[in-house]
Amino acid sequence: MTVSPSPAQAAPDLIARFTDLLGPVGVLVDATDTASFCTDWRDLYHGRALAVLRPANTAELAAIVRLCNEHDVPMVPQGGNTSMVGGATPDGSGREVVICLTRMNRVRAIDPADLTMEVEAGVTLKAAQDAAREAGFMLPLSISSEGSAQMGGVLATNAGGNNTLRYGNARELTLGVEAVMPDGSVFHGLRRLRKDNTGYALRQLLIGSEGTLGIITTAIIQLHPQPRAIEAALCAVDDADAALKLLGLLRARDPALVQAFEFMSGTGMDLVTSLIAGTTVPLGERAPAYVLVELATPRPDADLREYTEEVLGEALEEGIITDAVIAESEGQRAGLWKLREEHAEAQRRAGASVKNDVSVPVTHVPELIRRATAACAALIPGIRPAPFGHMGDGNIHFNLVQPEGMDPAAFLARSHDIMDTVAGIVKDLDGSFSAEHGVGQLKPYMMPAWRGGAELAAMRHIKAALDPKDLMNPGKVLPPAQPGA
Ligand code: MLT
Ligand code: ZN
Repeated sequence: MTVSPSPAQAAPDLIARFTDLLGPVGVLVDATDTASFCTDWRDLYHGRALAVLRPANTAELAAIVRLCNEHDVPMVPQGGNTSMVGGATPDGSGREVVICLTRMNRVRAIDPADLTMEVEAGVTLKAAQDAAREAGFMLPLSISSEGSAQMGGVLATNAGGNNTLRYGNARELTLGVEAVMPDGSVFHGLRRLRKDNTGYALRQLLIGSEGTLGIITTAIIQLHPQPRAIEAALCAVDDADAALKLLGLLRARDPALVQAFEFMSGTGMDLVTSLIAGTTVPLGERAPAYVLVELATPRPDADLREYTEEVLGEALEEGIITDAVIAESEGQRAGLWKLREEHAEAQRRAGASVKNDVSVPVTHVPELIRRATAACAALIPGIRPAPFGHMGDGNIHFNLVQPEGMDPAAFLARSHDIMDTVAGIVKDLDGSFSAEHGVGQLKPYMMPAWRGGAELAAMRHIKAALDPKDLMNPGKVLPPAQPGA
């Protein structure tokens, strides 16, 4: 029997050089140590890595990137490894190194006058939120994976999440970044300026580039005042049209109060309550759909509770919602959010599922849900559509769970049919095939149809200019160029 050498055995000199630069603690080569870095959260991709490199600071990162560039070693930056599109998973060649920023995990400073936070890439989003809260402020980015997702990945993917409708995506919240570019040079853009029109906005190019143009090491994030009052309510609705009316009512009354507006289907909620321990829907009857509304204000004198009761009372009277419960305590509020945040995990436990992280103009959300539900049911009888997500900003996770009893592999084999069916409807409604999860290695094939022509050409030119050897997260975002294209 022949035993093929591990990737690291094939390149001992290189591993020794990495170890010189980072010390033994910064270089993982054993397959048992690297395994978890080579598979994604969804278990869709299984790669191999030459090594996992864990620099402790920007200088170390720059040094290993220079070395990789010199030796044509492809690099895969990885944060909390929570990508939904395989964006941080190496390929199967064993030539790529995974660069993991976990050791760069300091919240360096919080400036209460500027309302900014300087944070390193390896800090989890949750830890950054906690640090902001302890200082009396709020970092309003919130996503289901915030306990694991790290700031570097959050920025590299321009994460959005639950509060985008009020505070924007990661991009809108970031004033400056420092990054190591593909050749190992350092882009010193750690600025705290609200106005800075000095040429191309490189930070905006790096944010959302999914690690294909450089590796963000540190960022200046804008903070907001900590809300003094928050009210969370779970509302039962008949369908997404009713949910849209509720959003309209809340916005007509006071758009500035709406901090989250999350849609959930009855099917998705059933999966959560049956598969996730400690979850129940605190409403009388099962509803076809639900909305989790969160209102918040930094004003001490707002009497938000009274306002919430009044506006939801009006929605009930008008028949927009059929039932509602307002959280009475922080514990109850957390319980309502658990019903929402566990949607992805419940779907994972329910068997194979196909995700469609799509966005459409908010007014088209009901039509998207209606048409995509019917089209997918016609495609695979028994399929379980469980759309949910950030309806307030038009981003729906139109996820579909396999029919009960179907072979998971047979269901996954239809992934592209399902994705293309949903995408066709999304396109018709002027939407996007990737709202907040990015393109990764799951969706580059969709780029020519959606971003072709001048847009894709410009992206290719930018990539070639900044990373001429295609060493930064190759195979992600951009599809392989067609000969002659
Ligand atoms: C979420 O909002 O919970 C996620 O983006 C997860 C998903 O799409 O499954
Ligand atoms: Zn989401």
